[in-house]
Amino acid sequence: MTTISVPVTRPATDGGLRVLDAWARVPDRPTPEERARRKARAAELLRAHDAVLVAHFYVDPDLQDLALETGGCVADSLEMARFGREHPARTLVVAGVRFMGETAKILSPEKRVLMPDLDATCSLDLGCPPDEFAAFCDAHPDRTVVVYANTSAAVKARADWMVTSSCALAIVEHLAARGEKLIWAPDRHLGAWIARETGADLLPWQGACVVHEEFRSAELEDLRRAHPDARVLVHPESPAGVVAQAHLVGSTSQLLREVVEGDAETYIVATDAGIFHRMEQLAPGKRLIAAPTSAPGAGCRSCTHCPWMAMNATQGVIDCLERGVNEIHVPEPVRSRALGCIDRMLDFVREHPEALLASRRAAPPAPDPY
Ligand code: 13P
Ligand code: SF4
Repeated sequence: MTTISVPVTRPATDGGLRVLDAWARVPDRPTPEERARRKARAAELLRAHDAVLVAHFYVDPDLQDLALETGGCVADSLEMARFGREHPARTLVVAGVRFMGETAKILSPEKRVLMPDLDATCSLDLGCPPDEFAAFCDAHPDRTVVVYANTSAAVKARADWMVTSSCALAIVEHLAARGEKLIWAPDRHLGAWIARETGADLLPWQGACVVHEEFRSAELEDLRRAHPDARVLVHPESPAGVVAQAHLVGSTSQLLREVVEGDAETYIVATDAGIFHRMEQLAPGKRLIAAPTSAPGAGCRSCTHCPWMAMNATQGVIDCLERGVNEIHVPEPVRSRALGCIDRMLDFVREHPEALLASRRAAPPAPDPY
């Protein structure tokens, strides 16, 4: 088994930042025949075990196709949570990262929730340890605690609201209008964007996504100069200079919808490369260009593909169903405490469906011609 080291920056108790040496497994590369055999076997097992595959846009294209061919879904983190809760299957196989499996279990404790690889994590989750986060909240008892979905169940158990990138802006706007002061965790770029857009009084945790943090604004300007008619689509986990150049800022599903429904021919996309598979399927005539990162060829941090999403493989679906391994457990009382903040978000988006409209449709400033 090959593993790679993934440096994750996280806040330290002295107020600075420190680097945590995380790791990810590199999946094998089966032949086309072996890939087809594994897909067929996984489909058979899903049927036999009354299981449904709930996949994120960033996972292996074979898993995305398998999910759609077997009645599952490929979605952003909000839709994955809603789909898993509503679906009647007794087993959910969640292809994504750990917090997505935990959210599914919190919402559906009566279902068995399995994952292809339980070590698939997220730098935002790793960068926000529950004990240190609880101490941060305790130090600011007057603030409402809003956490991003990309956190552990224990962090959610300490929160008042959970949000995903598809509804974060609307929910924070709603709380700010009620005069509430907020703690925001863990993504500092998403937090900074929300604070700029809403004017909310928001005290941020200093986490970051190892993939989105690598997008570079100067190189993006160069690319926009070379493709003046391209629309720029940006996930809000990206740095401010990249977000500032976006025609649209949104969750993975909001970016996908824009490629499918938008009238431009060319799109520059600043999010994980895994989403190109679904974009190409649903908008075959459109030209898609990956937004530039700091150092082409400099390893996993610049490949625009999440090393933990990449750990999800068809073989993992086979293993977890055949052997009943990789089950997600969320002990009480953490589960019921975490449920409160997720339910609050789900109620909000049900009552305010407009909250899911993409977050900004505006022409960014033209790039400097020189
Ligand atoms: P979405 O909710 O937009 O799918 O984002 C999840 C994620 O992990 C982005 O990096
Ligand atoms: Fe976490 Fe970033 Fe991977 Fe999304 S892309 S799961 S935020 S590390």
